Amino acid sequence: MTTTRPARTDLRELPGDAGLPLIHQSWDFVSGRLTTSRARFDKHGPVSSMRALGKNWVSALGPDAVGEVLTNRNRVFDSGPGWGFLIGPFFRRGLMLLDGAEHHSHRRIMQEAFTARRLAGYLEPMNRTITESLAGWPEAGMLAFYPSIKQLTLDVATNTFMGAKTGVDADRLNTAFVDAVRAANAFVRFPVPGLRWSRGLHGRTTLEQYLTPRIAAKRAGDGTDLFGALCHAQVEDESFTDADIVNHMIFLLMAAHDTSTITLTSMAYYLATNPEWQDRCRDESLALGTDTVAYDDLDKLVALDLVMKEALRLVVPVPGVIRRASADTELLGYHVPAGTFVAANLWGVHHFEEWWPDPERFDPGRFADDRREDKVHRHAFMPFGNGVHKCIGMYFGGMEIKATMHQLLRRYRLSVPDGYEMPLDWSSLPRPRDGLPVILHRL
Ligand code: HEM
Repeated sequence: MTTTRPARTDLRELPGDAGLPLIHQSWDFVSGRLTTSRARFDKHGPVSSMRALGKNWVSALGPDAVGEVLTNRNRVFDSGPGWGFLIGPFFRRGLMLLDGAEHHSHRRIMQEAFTARRLAGYLEPMNRTITESLAGWPEAGMLAFYPSIKQLTLDVATNTFMGAKTGVDADRLNTAFVDAVRAANAFVRFPVPGLRWSRGLHGRTTLEQYLTPRIAAKRAGDGTDLFGALCHAQVEDESFTDADIVNHMIFLLMAAHDTSTITLTSMAYYLATNPEWQDRCRDESLALGTDTVAYDDLDKLVALDLVMKEALRLVVPVPGVIRRASADTELLGYHVPAGTFVAANLWGVHHFEEWWPDPERFDPGRFADDRREDKVHRHAFMPFGNGVHKCIGMYFGGMEIKATMHQLLRRYRLSVPDGYEMPLDWSSLPRPRDGLPVILHRL
C-alpha cells in the first residue's frame, strides 16, 4: 500500500494574505482582534500563514491544528524561542521558556513545590489572606471588581508564594507584573522611555531586586511557602541555583496572578448575570458549613467547578500559545519551514461552533457528567494548554479560585446593572475595559 505524502509547500504557498502594507497583520495581532475572531478560520482554514511584528507566522486554529502543535510529537515546536520573542526579556528562563532536557529537569524539580501535600499546606495561609483582603471590601454598593480582585490575588501571591506581607511594596510589585505582562504585545519592540517595552524591562528589574536579597533567608528557613519550597526542592542530586529561583519565582508570580484574576473576574460576571447558578454555588458553599474551605472539601464544590470551567472556556485567560519550529516540519500536512513562529489559538478552540453547541452561551451544565461536551474532541478544552508545557499550577489555580469564590459567595450576593455586558480588552491577557462594576449585597 502506498501513502500519499502531503505536498511540500513554501510558507508563501500556505493559505493566507499579506494584510496591510508595511505592518501586515501586526495591528490585528497586538490588538487581540486576530485572536478572538474566526474570520481567518473561515477564509483560510486551520493552518495559514501571516506576517506580524516583523516575523513569519503560521496561525494554527481549531482543535486539530492546536492539539498537534501543543502535543508536539516530533519535538520541533519549541516554546522557549516562541514565547521568548514575546516575553523573553521580562520572563527569561521561566519554566515555559525552557525546552527539551533542561525543561524536563527543571519541571521535575519544580513539581516538588506542587505536590498534594504542598498544595494543602498553601491553602491555610491562602484562606487567611483571602479573609483579610475581603474584610477591606465595602459592605454593599458598587465595586470595580477587577482591580479589587487583582489586589486580592496579589496579596495571595505575595503571602502564599513568599510568606511575607508586602505592605507598601504591593503597589510597586503590582505595577511591575502588569508592565512586564503587557510588554509582550508592545508594538514598538525596543526600549523607548515611557512605552510598553521599556516599562516591562523596568518591571523585571523591580521584581529581581525584591526577590534576590530574600533567597538566603528562605534557604535557611523551613520553607512552607512556594518560594521556600523552590529553595528546598530537590530531585536526586538536582536543585535550583539562586538565579533559577529568581527566574522561576518571577515567572510563577506572573503565571499565577493574572490568570487567576481574570478567571475570578469572568466567574463573578457570569454568576452576577446568571443568578440561578450563583444560588447553586452559594448553596453548596453554605452546605459546607465553614467560612473557609478545607483541602479535602474542594471537590464538594461541584457547581462552582462547572462554573469555573465554563468561565475558562468563554474567557480563556491565555488566549494563544506561541512556539517556533526548530526544524522543517509539517502541520496537518502543510510544510512549516524551520524558524517559523507558530501562534496556536486557544480562544478559537473554545468558541468554534463545529465543536461547541451555542458557543457564546454561558452553560456550565455542558461540563456535567451527563453531557461532557468537552469530550467531543481530545483537544476541545485546553485552558491550561497540553503536552509537556501543560500548566503546572492548574490545581494551585483551581484551589485559589474556589477558595476565594467560597468566601465571596458566603459573604455577598453579586449583581450587575440591568443589561450590562462586560467589555473585554484582549490586547494582552483578557481584562474588562471598565473594571467590571459589580453591585455587592452583604448577606
Ligand atoms: C486559571 C489559572 C491558569 C491558567 C488558565 C493557566 C494557563 C496556562 C497555560 C495555557 C499554560 C501553557 C502555556 C504553553 O503551553 O505555552 C500554562 C503554563 C504554566 N503555568 Fe499556568 N495557568 C493558570 C494558573 C497558574 C498558576 C496558579 C501557576 C503557578 C502557581 C501557573 C504556572 C504555570 C507554569 C510554571 C507554566 C509553564 C509550564 C511549563 O512550561 O512546563 N499557572 N498555564
